[in-house]
Amino acid sequence: MDQIVNVNEFQELAKRALPKMYFDFYSGGAEDQHTLKENVEAFTRIMFRPRVLVDVSKIDMSTRILGYPISAPIMIAPTAMHMLAHPQGETATAKAAAACNTIMIVSYMASCTIEEVASSCNAVRFLQIYVYKRRDVTAQMVKRAEKAGFKAIVLTVDVPKFGRREADIKNKMVSPQLRNFEGLISYLEGSGVEALASSTFDASLTWKDIEWLRSITKLPIMVKGILTREDALRAIEAGVDGIVVSNHGARQLDYSPATITVLEEIVHVVGGRVPVLLDGGVRRGTDVFKALALGAQAVLIGRPVVYGLAAKGEDGVRKVIDMLKNELELTMALSGCPTIDDITRNNVRTESERL
Ligand code: FNR
Repeated sequence: MDQIVNVNEFQELAKRALPKMYFDFYSGGAEDQHTLKENVEAFTRIMFRPRVLVDVSKIDMSTRILGYPISAPIMIAPTAMHMLAHPQGETATAKAAAACNTIMIVSYMASCTIEEVASSCNAVRFLQIYVYKRRDVTAQMVKRAEKAGFKAIVLTVDVPKFGRREADIKNKMVSPQLRNFEGLISYLEGSGVEALASSTFDASLTWKDIEWLRSITKLPIMVKGILTREDALRAIEAGVDGIVVSNHGARQLDYSPATITVLEEIVHVVGGRVPVLLDGGVRRGTDVFKALALGAQAVLIGRPVVYGLAAKGEDGVRKVIDMLKNELELTMALSGCPTIDDITRNNVRTESERL
């Protein structure tokens, strides 16, 4: 473990640890994977405007999301089927989240049941959901989440149809049984992942359905998958409690913009009314800092968490989050920002602002 010095190194370790089919499933993006590259590269085009001679002897990275304190603005994104990466699946990830004092968003497509995840640790958990054609099944999951102490529902809105992930098609990637839906959805086992999604997900979902979701839960509702100011405004009108700027880790619409390039326009129209989170391509503490400077309250990490889990289980996930936290701490010190509130738009320079 001591030899691992940054998050990117976990990708190679995961590749060695996993069967090709699973590694491809985790690492792949849609079609030409242009957005997959852009998510990472767009961060590299943002530079810093570091300030000096500020007392940075103490750095405080702590913040709050929906009122829940976390040690740093780095949360765990919902990613499907952690048991493909490690036998302990989401329970190991959740333990790492608790140890790092951060929030885990558990995927609707988790391999462990949400009750197993809940009883494995006391991390603050949100549940990500898709809406199934069988609304009763989705409603039941939301009820179970409430009962199991989940603190928010994160509705993913960018999968009316499943993105075309060509590696999965080639590998004939199949979905293992999803224990959350055992006995409820009978055609899961052995289905290809795309077939699974198209037979279960409700592609007729609209903004009106936020009302339906609101009618079945008192939990805060965030929407994940917003990429335009227009949709950010629709989300606010629909009364959501938070927005996640996301292109689904570039697994849905190729040539969607890199998330960091659209963050500012969304933050601008949201105007502080609800928290705005961002995911996609965050691999360094410097990336976290850049997202915060452009107005995000926190970032979510997807693939690095799965790679950490595949390579080293719970300890691997902890290491991923700890490395990002250490890098963020250093970035804050070298930028002259002792607290999260000190990070402002003035601390970065985007490409259009270059001289
Ligand atoms: C995802 N993502 C995802 N999102 C979601 O809302 N529900 C899900 O079940 C999944 N499943 C999933 C599986 C895998 C293997 C990946 C890589 C991603 C998207 C995820 O929440 C997040 O948006 C991206 O992973 C963020 O990008 P990075 O950090 O992976 O670059």
